[in-house]
Amino acid sequence: MFRILSIAFALLLIIGCKNSEESTVTPSDPSHKWWKEAIIYQIYPRSFKDTDGDGVGDLKGIIEELDYIQSLGVTAVWLNPIYSSPNDDNGYDVSDYRAIMEDFGTMEDFDIMLKGMHERNIKLVMDVVVNHSSDEHEWFKQSRSSRDNPYRDYYHWWPAEKGKPNYRYSLFDEKGDAWRYDSLTNSYYLHYFAVKQPDLNWENPKVRQEVYDIMKFWAEKGVDGFRLDAFQFAAKDTTFPKFPDGFEKNFTEYYAMQGDLHQYLKEMNAEVFSKYNVMSVSEGAGRNFVDAHNLVDEDRKELDMAYAFDGVDIAKPNGYSLDHFKEVFTRWDSAFAKKGWLSIFLSNHDQSRLVSRYGNDSEAFRAPSTKMLNTFILSMRGTPYCYYGDELGMTNIGFDSISQYQDIAAINGYKKVMSQGGDIDAYMKGLKFGSRDNGRTPMQWDASENGGFTEGIPWLPVNDNKTVINVQSQHDDPNSVLNHFRKMTTLRKNFPVLVYGAYELVQKEHHKVYAYTRTTANSKLLVILNFSETPTEFVIPKDLSPVEVLIDNYDQVAMEGNNLALQPYQAIIFEIQK
Ligand code: NOJ
Repeated sequence: MFRILSIAFALLLIIGCKNSEESTVTPSDPSHKWWKEAIIYQIYPRSFKDTDGDGVGDLKGIIEELDYIQSLGVTAVWLNPIYSSPNDDNGYDVSDYRAIMEDFGTMEDFDIMLKGMHERNIKLVMDVVVNHSSDEHEWFKQSRSSRDNPYRDYYHWWPAEKGKPNYRYSLFDEKGDAWRYDSLTNSYYLHYFAVKQPDLNWENPKVRQEVYDIMKFWAEKGVDGFRLDAFQFAAKDTTFPKFPDGFEKNFTEYYAMQGDLHQYLKEMNAEVFSKYNVMSVSEGAGRNFVDAHNLVDEDRKELDMAYAFDGVDIAKPNGYSLDHFKEVFTRWDSAFAKKGWLSIFLSNHDQSRLVSRYGNDSEAFRAPSTKMLNTFILSMRGTPYCYYGDELGMTNIGFDSISQYQDIAAINGYKKVMSQGGDIDAYMKGLKFGSRDNGRTPMQWDASENGGFTEGIPWLPVNDNKTVINVQSQHDDPNSVLNHFRKMTTLRKNFPVLVYGAYELVQKEHHKVYAYTRTTANSKLLVILNFSETPTEFVIPKDLSPVEVLIDNYDQVAMEGNNLALQPYQAIIFEIQK
């Protein structure tokens, strides 16, 4: 029988309790960078906190909550776009890159927010959306107005007298067609995303210079990094050749990393990143490891960090297998073990909620499974990106009717399925599980009617479970999901091995437990995560001798010899004797 040991884990305290690793990191090691050590908290500003009662979050709301953000132990914030926008795609359709969206506040608010972050040692990463702009941007208005307008070549136009251009797939178009006919100049323009998001022409050096100037504007203000939205699609073969039938099922193969994309990134690096010491992260990492490496290989001087989607693509409405999950994260880690740097994340504003997709959002298991997933994200090699609300275990809202959705992707996808006579029930089921609106419901600050998010009518409903899942109720509860998150960020900051240590999978063949070690020259940790809702046994390999429990999402570690009896979703990190 297993003997139950308390968290104090007396028998294992041979070496004594340590709050942090003895320094294994040489501060002057040139491979050590703040952005590798960063813990990034992603804020969807529309949904974080509203201070003026219009039902939409704003910068003043973020300012009000800076102490909360600091209390999470995160060291950087990535803000989704806050620029002027008609909001066809919630800010990913920018009409003025140097102005703040009215709903969000003013440039003065921005300056105060940035100063407040820096005072708290929190860095700011801005979203840069330059694969496309809004059709309400002045560039597009000019470009559209006549064929000989100086801005015409800022976008991709196809004169209709040449016939219809070869089919291009659009992610957000209600017909899936990326070419839109515009009678004003008898031409088609290209939009990989929604019709109001025309693609910029990166072949035009003037466009590139405009973008670098915009980035410099924000860098001069003191922002610390840029996330390049959809940038892997920015370069195109502008002869627009025919792609094979059905290419849209695998469109990244045809859209990503085309033409001179790497050249543009090198130019951006020389013009902006190198001059301002800002970090840069791609959205997407190309078609394969070669692309991903080429994006972030230090010697090439393009970007710092890749943000690959394989990890968020694992979860499906009917579940996922842990074997697959381990395989994906292990494969990516080993490809980047020697060179390059990755982002680690399981959720963002384009996904539904962490616990609803990867954990178990039932009442019984929501808390332990969220803690387990946060343990994973914060103990892997690569920079962790934690999405607002996941520190509390916020769950999917799960709308039933299309009228409840706000997201253009969901709404236009619905129209497309309807017009093509597709399986609408299957589509609605898919949305309920995976829609982006699930991940965009307002932050749950307290149990009040609107969860403390707004005094007005929230732009998207607050999840009813705000009564039990909210900051106020979790703040002082030592066992809350929130306080577990805080303990994990503290641990990551105190143990550089969690940042720089080599990753090695342990007991690959265990179908319920994901275990791995993180190792540097003089430190070794063992992470053990029970991904199942059942109690599970795990045998710690003989060559790994635990000396201390550093964190546990339950209050007991049950162990006899090397045999661990894990509770459902139990997550433990041991320090291992070196
Ligand atoms: C990727 C962003 O993450 C997503 O939210 C947006 O809709 C598209 N790019 C288009 O900008």
